[in-house]
Amino acid sequence: MYRANIVVAVCAFALLLSAAHAADKTVYQYVIFGDSVTDTGNVFRDGGVPDPLIYYKGRFTNGPNWVDYLNQSLSAKHKVQIFNYATGGGVACSFNLNNTRYPYARDAVNQTGNFLADLARGKVPTTKYTRRISVSWFAANDITVALSRALTSGVDAATAGRQIVSSLATCLSQHVGALAASGVREVVLLPQSPVQVAPLVPDFLRPSVAQLVDAVDAALVQAMAAVNAQLDAAPAGSPAAGAHVYLLGDSKWIGRIAPAVRPAFKYMGDRSCFTNPDSSMRITPGLADRICTDPNDYAFYDEIHPTTNFHKAYALDALLPRLQLFRLAPRDV
Ligand SMILES: *[C@@H]1O[C@H](CO)[C@@H](O)[C@H](O)[C@H]1NC(C)=O
Ligand SMILES: *[C@@H]1O[C@H](CO)[C@@H](O)[C@H](O)[C@H]1NC(C)=O
Ligand SMILES: *[C@@H]1O[C@H](CO)[C@@H](O)[C@H](O)[C@H]1NC(C)=O
Repeated sequence: MYRANIVVAVCAFALLLSAAHAADKTVYQYVIFGDSVTDTGNVFRDGGVPDPLIYYKGRFTNGPNWVDYLNQSLSAKHKVQIFNYATGGGVACSFNLNNTRYPYARDAVNQTGNFLADLARGKVPTTKYTRRISVSWFAANDITVALSRALTSGVDAATAGRQIVSSLATCLSQHVGALAASGVREVVLLPQSPVQVAPLVPDFLRPSVAQLVDAVDAALVQAMAAVNAQLDAAPAGSPAAGAHVYLLGDSKWIGRIAPAVRPAFKYMGDRSCFTNPDSSMRITPGLADRICTDPNDYAFYDEIHPTTNFHKAYALDALLPRLQLFRLAPRDV
């Protein structure tokens, strides 16, 4: 009797161990889409920008970006694969793509297409241990491109704002829907970043841009609820069956990151380490001589791109716990 219990206990323990062992084999495969904040070298590979004298290894910042920090942290303990399709100037809506302003930029449809092509030719591997999680972070360029188009074309701000909000909700729904239909089960959508705080935005425009960002936040909640309702109704066995979109909150938590970074930034959105008038997608001779001496004093490196210390806090203190909350990242890191 006793012995039988011990045997059962030992077997149960062995089963637990083997379950833990099997869990160890999980390969966390993050497939990433977005813009310059997320690009880890795609634009650099195509165009040799951003200027390597100023920006770190094809990142649009002065050091590793959030993708690098997240990868470093996770891959210290787990098998992690990163497939990053984000490009500087990337946009959610194709009609906001402006290759004059942002050469080498790709819209969400193109980025998704590049992923699907890699998937089809086996460049993005699928094994029984693969846990494929897509992470998309768009919308900052859509807002700036669409706003400047509206301002120059004379459309009134309220009308332009409504169009931007509804088009972003539509384009992002299509993007996450396409990922779900391609068999990605766990589709993460990061919220709109609070672009109103960027040094690029003049003070007089900050309140209206903040309102626009709030409206995008609200529209995305509705739009993603609608996408999830459709996914829940997908017939068993269809490609999208079992997929879910995780909209990770709204712009507010992103806005709280910079003030919490230690050592504290001396300058938030009021000024950047340097200004890059011709945009980071071009090389401006002599610009390297005009970089501030200590970028760590600044939340922003240039007028639109945060410094690497922001990226680190974003990745490790803000995004990682949110991914872990939904079990979209391992919890023991
Ligand atoms: C992720 O981090 C690991 C460990 O630091 C590194 O070997 C790997 O090249 C990184 N992957 C990418 C895509 O940066
Ligand atoms: C694209 O960007 C260029 C340069 O900033 C600008 O002159 C042009 O009006 C933009 N086009 C559209 C369609 O927004
Ligand atoms: C994305 O755009 C690039 C440049 O125009 C093109 O070479 C590539 O084939 C496009 N990818 C897809 C999947 O359409």
